[in-house]
Amino acid sequence: MAHRWKNTLTRADATPLAAYMNRRQIMAGAMGLGLIGAAGMARSQEAELEPNSWEDITQYNNFYEFGTGKSDPARNAHTLTTEPWTVAIDGLVDNPGDYSMGQIMEAMTIEERIYRFRCVEAWSMVIPWNGFELADLLNLAGVQEGAKYVAFETALRPDEMPGVRFPVLDWPYVEGLRLDEAMHPLTMMATGIYGKPIPNQNGAPIRLVVPWKYGFKSIKSIVRITVTEDEPPTSWNKANGREYGFYSNVNPEVDHPRWSQASERMVGGGLFAKRQPTLMFNGYEEDVASLYDGMDLRANF
Ligand code: MTE
Repeated sequence: MAHRWKNTLTRADATPLAAYMNRRQIMAGAMGLGLIGAAGMARSQEAELEPNSWEDITQYNNFYEFGTGKSDPARNAHTLTTEPWTVAIDGLVDNPGDYSMGQIMEAMTIEERIYRFRCVEAWSMVIPWNGFELADLLNLAGVQEGAKYVAFETALRPDEMPGVRFPVLDWPYVEGLRLDEAMHPLTMMATGIYGKPIPNQNGAPIRLVVPWKYGFKSIKSIVRITVTEDEPPTSWNKANGREYGFYSNVNPEVDHPRWSQASERMVGGGLFAKRQPTLMFNGYEEDVASLYDGMDLRANF
């Protein structure tokens, strides 16, 4: 489906980086790629981060509103109407209201970020997202004093979402972040993949991407963002609080009660590919570990 709001950059624009990125974007992009080390030394991980194919990324999905099988979203999500689309931003903000996708795209600068993506089920991919920092949108809305968390909600449309007939989760799908996690420069709202509008099965027209957390935190097809004082409920935690915590930071040392998190299977690696070791905070430890200083990551899983 053709979207009115186009990503302003395509993957072809990605070289040379400096041609279009301003300094802030280069810094943020470089942080996202892990190019900036502790000593501030540029360490090129770009070669390591070879993105998965468009097919891998768009045919192997979790989007339970369209079914629980990995190929269900690609088969069923075409029924989701993504135009027009508005995101309600409310709660502790100066400028609450319904923001149309057009308004959002007009106000935000779209950039490409190549991020690792690690599902709690122990598979992983590398995805070239297009989008903007969530912080930029929250700053547009104006976060008020006393705010501590940000809650997110997916559209709930039984007519368009065959999966919500089944009580797999308590619909609508909801997620949440601590405010400092939401404002972190790595946290983005994705509107595209490989320079194309994000396909419905990946969370069109706008989804969250938090690369150091398990994939279920990266909520899709968002219709509401609420800035709150209290920790918001989250879908998988409500479904099974013993297995899925609020934080859900990728951590090879904290196993899921039913499987190990020490290693992961790279999707698209082939049948006989060796599993690879899981990286602390999914490889973003230098950027995000300080958010959790002094916190027991086993208790706050
Ligand atoms: N968001 C909604 N609304 N519904 C879902 O079922 N699944 C989550 C997350 N966001 C999900 C969701 C899970 S478990 C994962 S791993 C990622 O989306 C998958 O994203 P992808 O299909 O783009 O790889």
